Amino acid sequence: MALGVGCPTPYAALEGLMRRRLGRECLYVPSCRLGLYVALRHWCPPGGRVLMSPVNDDVIMFVVLAAGLRPVQAPLDARDGSIDLAAVPESDWRGLSAVLTTNLYGNPDPAPELRARCDALGIPLIEDAAHAIGSEVGGQAVGTFGDAAVFSLSKHVGAKTGGFLAVADPGLRTELAAARDALLEPSRLAAELTYAVRPYAEAGVRGMRLVRAARGLLRAAGAEERRDIRMELRPGDLKEALAGEPGLGGFDSWVRVDMHRYRITPGRVRLGRTERLLSGLDPLLGAHREGTRRLLGTSWAAPGPHGAAQPLFRVPLLVADRDAAVAALARRRITTGYLYDPPLDVYAGDVFTDASPHPAPAAWFARHALPADPLRAPQVIAVLSESGAEPASPPERVGD
Ligand SMILES: Cc1ncc(COP(=O)(O)O)c(C=O)c1O
Repeated sequence: MALGVGCPTPYAALEGLMRRRLGRECLYVPSCRLGLYVALRHWCPPGGRVLMSPVNDDVIMFVVLAAGLRPVQAPLDARDGSIDLAAVPESDWRGLSAVLTTNLYGNPDPAPELRARCDALGIPLIEDAAHAIGSEVGGQAVGTFGDAAVFSLSKHVGAKTGGFLAVADPGLRTELAAARDALLEPSRLAAELTYAVRPYAEAGVRGMRLVRAARGLLRAAGAEERRDIRMELRPGDLKEALAGEPGLGGFDSWVRVDMHRYRITPGRVRLGRTERLLSGLDPLLGAHREGTRRLLGTSWAAPGPHGAAQPLFRVPLLVADRDAAVAALARRRITTGYLYDPPLDVYAGDVFTDASPHPAPAAWFARHALPADPLRAPQVIAVLSESGAEPASPPERVGD
């Protein structure tokens, strides 16, 4: 089937934009997490095992669990949090149903090598490109190596909704679209109205420095449910959910964190704003690339070589006292998000996940990485310099 042939849907314009960018069939999804769930259910039989990164959003581990799969945590490279392929023991490769990359903060996982491994094992490679729209490996876009890839339009694009499921085989479109549609919740006027006014409301309350009011607004939108970096695990409830059938229903209270409308059928306002924002992606990626270049030129950057700068979503600077750096930035009203500490195997324990065989580099990275927004590079550099933040040197790689 030719790319994109079929009945026009309300998503056709958005999907066309992404298809032209990626050269792959793309299916709109209301969130990256829903796209990932659709992919995992399609490619992995329940009971399967999925190699993934322990330095990752906890929501992703819950999506894997909801799909009836067992997360197997991979060893990481302490310099950038990518999967350290050489440190994955042979015994871990056997019995895998899929490999899921993270491309943390936009730094690519070793996609060509993972692709070759997956081909040799006859298993799918699924790329989480939520942070990596615009990132490349050897001139090839992240998201074009896997059998499937998922993108989040809440990250670089800043739409606070939406994403794509991109697939290597365009012939799967109809089947995957039907699977997506079966999971969608009906559009609600109230949700669409909240979405429409939210940017103005947020800008207003922040402008007036009414921080508590802003918090209340974010809580109402399901965007502030964490007292700590990791959400509360609730092991008793999680065991109960795992005893049932795979599915989003039983896992909803974990999967929806930070985005309660992750399954919503988008209305015209949502789609229209997302399309406008996605159309402006290229200049935005240019700004991310420029900020990344500046941050990688500082003493807090991981040891190079860095090659051509990627348009990173966040630049993981390595600092000796990460919490002090976060506090110094907060005093200047620069919020640090996307911290993933501790790693998922420490957070969830071996009841819910297979631990990494070499956990130290991941723990080190999770503890020292300061995800800096490249769009605020000059301010971040100024604050870190003034506060005397010390750089941290990553430990040697397992294979070195
Ligand atoms: C690595 C990663 N993947 C996937 C997601 C989920 O994206 P979405 O919020 O669009 O579902 C996130 C969210 O922060 C993420 O950090």
